[in-house]
Amino acid sequence: MATKPPSIIAIDGPAASGKSTLGRRLAEELGYLFFDTGVMYRALTWRVLESGIDVRDEAAVTALANEINIDVRPASDLDGRTCDVLVNGIDVTWESRSDAVEANVSIVAAYRGVRLAMGEQQRQIGQRGRVVMVGRDIGTVILPEANLKLYLDASATERARRRYEELRARRIEANLNEVLSMVLERDRIDSTRDVAPLRVASDAVLLDSENLSPDDVLQRVMKLCE
Ligand code: CDP
Repeated sequence: MATKPPSIIAIDGPAASGKSTLGRRLAEELGYLFFDTGVMYRALTWRVLESGIDVRDEAAVTALANEINIDVRPASDLDGRTCDVLVNGIDVTWESRSDAVEANVSIVAAYRGVRLAMGEQQRQIGQRGRVVMVGRDIGTVILPEANLKLYLDASATERARRRYEELRARRIEANLNEVLSMVLERDRIDSTRDVAPLRVASDAVLLDSENLSPDDVLQRVMKLCE
């Protein structure tokens, strides 16, 4: 008799390591919900910037985190989006991937109150099971009970190259060195913050995707799910 695949799957790893690509495809294969927690921190950061609040103002950012309404829905457009991200009813799917958000999201995501507000919602959804949840602290903090934990990695230059290609595919002007600096800076903040830093969970399976195609990565993970 075939065994059941793990019900709660956590995927963590540094910026642009291929977590979302893997998570989306894995969830599709298994018929699970795909939940990319990064969109929540990005959506909040968009709202902070839009409100004119100083990202360094922890109290004001935290207050916003406690009142914001973030909704994620199936993609309503064929413009390359994988889902719609709404903030208080406004579609911010692409705005939340802008340079400005990218440059500030790790500052916002480091605040304790922000992580409490976002983490609570993530846990509620994750604990229902049949879910692939992607982020930085899913296997360590949000869902330590996950049945399968993956930590996806690749060198910073390879990750920057992938993010650069993604931007070019969206016809966005980018400079590879600037993309690399941004990726390194986010990794630095994400892994050195006091609250829920990016770490490999002790029971996670480490996957180096440096020389693997998205298909290769998916195949390996599907084996782990058998
Ligand atoms: O797609 P990429 O790996 O570049 O980033 P993302 O997953 O969309 O996450 C954007 C940022 O949100 C990260 O750099 C972290 O600062 C933050 N984040 C976090 O702190 N915890 C999570 N579970 C997910 C994202």
